[in-house]
Amino acid sequence: MDNSTRYAALWITRSPIASRMGDWRLAAAWRDHVLHTHDPDTRNGTSMASVASLSASLQQRVSAALAAAVPSATGADPLLRRSDRADFQANGVLGLAKRQKADPRVLAAEVAAALPTAGGAGADGDDTIAAVEVSGPGFLNITVSDAAITRNLAARAADDRLGVPLKEHPGTTVVDYAQPNVAKEMHVGHLRSSVIGDAIVKILEFGGEQVVRRHHIGDWGTQFGMLVQYLIEHPHELDHSEDEGDTGEASMSRLDRTYKASGALFRSDEAFKERARRRVVDLQAGDPETVALWQRFVDESKIYFDSVYRKLDIEIRDEDIVGESGYNDMLVETCDLLEKSGVAVWSNGALCVFFDDIKGKDGEPVPLIVRKTDGGFGYAATDLSAIRNRTGDLHADTLLYVVDVRQSLHFRMVFETARRAGWLTDEVTARHLPFGTLLGKDGKPFKTRAGESVKLEDLLDEAVQRATAVVREKGEKIGLTEEEITANGVQVGIGAVKYADLSTSLGRDYVFDLDRMVSLNGDTSVYVQYAYARTRSIFRKAGEGQRAVAHPELPLEAAERALGLHLDAFGDTLAEVAGVYEPHRLASYLFHLASLFTTFYEQCPVLTADGGPAQVENRLFLCDVTARTLRQGLWLLGIRAPERL
Ligand code: ARG
Repeated sequence: MDNSTRYAALWITRSPIASRMGDWRLAAAWRDHVLHTHDPDTRNGTSMASVASLSASLQQRVSAALAAAVPSATGADPLLRRSDRADFQANGVLGLAKRQKADPRVLAAEVAAALPTAGGAGADGDDTIAAVEVSGPGFLNITVSDAAITRNLAARAADDRLGVPLKEHPGTTVVDYAQPNVAKEMHVGHLRSSVIGDAIVKILEFGGEQVVRRHHIGDWGTQFGMLVQYLIEHPHELDHSEDEGDTGEASMSRLDRTYKASGALFRSDEAFKERARRRVVDLQAGDPETVALWQRFVDESKIYFDSVYRKLDIEIRDEDIVGESGYNDMLVETCDLLEKSGVAVWSNGALCVFFDDIKGKDGEPVPLIVRKTDGGFGYAATDLSAIRNRTGDLHADTLLYVVDVRQSLHFRMVFETARRAGWLTDEVTARHLPFGTLLGKDGKPFKTRAGESVKLEDLLDEAVQRATAVVREKGEKIGLTEEEITANGVQVGIGAVKYADLSTSLGRDYVFDLDRMVSLNGDTSVYVQYAYARTRSIFRKAGEGQRAVAHPELPLEAAERALGLHLDAFGDTLAEVAGVYEPHRLASYLFHLASLFTTFYEQCPVLTADGGPAQVENRLFLCDVTARTLRQGLWLLGIRAPERL
């Protein structure tokens, strides 16, 4: 079995709906979906030759030079960063001079003298640094050698992971994301949670972290009493009819119809209301008939979720879906523990946790309610039970929640409660990663013209449609087939939606503007995808015998150096992104990479380089490392890179 077939087989067994329904058509769709894309993922983890970036090597050298100049400065931070004066600038001398009451320029000169420079005395063949200069009040401007840049990239190219190191001490992180609600339409909030969560999961996993994915779907609560009772009284409501078909959309319309009809009855018919209430009790007690009917709602919803996630190109595995119902058996105990430890107290018939600093507008304290007056358990009891499971049973040391900013107070109260109860200890980090709202062009929360919330699927379809038009215009010129145009339209359209979401910092609201999102000029995914396709087109045009080979002996032009230094920073960028959970930093790294490549492409002819065959090889080599970095980076954001665009 070749790699892609093996990978497809894996997807078929993992595809929740395909395996459950044993439906070969769905399985075939998944396989097609996978075979038409090459995933850098298939290459992950096969090599272990991590490469220190030039920035990290310099950091070390400057630290050593600082310590040589001022022995008591061992461990002082050289404060090294990229600079437009030279390649790097180190500002650490300033603070050190102040502490030593020394003249910063004199001290900087001493540190500079202690740095090994190519060909300099004491360099011992270390030619990483080409030149050091003292500037301003005592900055060090450092230029690295062209040879060092090419050598570093060559080491990256030799590694399947582009030399990106794995975390030295990986931990276990639970990521709570992509949590739609059963029997309800998915909305734009679920889009953001899914897209951001998926990227965070991929980035953490690529760094070697053990990640447990949790889709905390809304599959429990009093509304299920009403739904199940209605289904008992209208047993054919969820049957699949010939003309409706088995699509996700058909599932959603069946669910929606049932939801509306049962809701109307619940509001108008007191007797039904009472039967629905009793049904909730049966459900919570685990009555088999009730649970079986509840399961039908869950299954039907999963068909719908699956169709949306397939469109979104996000993999949701059945075993990772542990919704609110998954913690039902823990709720009573969670409340007992809180009550016995005194963390929660009864107030007006409800079990509550109070906080000194959380008060309502009227100045009255706002409690976290874990058990309601009617004896029912709320959202908070479930989240607290989930924390017990995630820290106690899954042994997670980090808990992340990719959830709408409007739930910030909820998570603040839940985390604080869990700390008091001892379920979150000092060894565990719990973070809510709040995201902002998607806005319409009018600056108000994104709605249809009629003021209704926008169906996620409609929004995705429209993005694909717009993207296909853009792809077609270019594609016809380069002779793409209709099939390629359609496939690229999907990758560009879905990429555009994801990129727009991921390139804004999480907490900010942003305007959903499809025209801007599929534009070829601007901070968009298609701009980055286009740079990737350009690298591929160069390779298609390359003649026999024109290969990508690194030549560290060749001098580099400014555009080549800039590109090379940025490529070398891929691993450092990923480590930073993984440390702060901010995918927008990766998006901006990739956008910058695409622009540097565009400049390189304009200024440095590749196949017709006038420096001869070695220069052609070296430039092809730069194209290759660029292509791999772009593709890997996009993949970590959940975005595909078409070969021809
Ligand atoms: N289902 C919820 C909603 O649609 C989001 C769940 C978030 N996760 C959690 N552990 N509370 O708003």
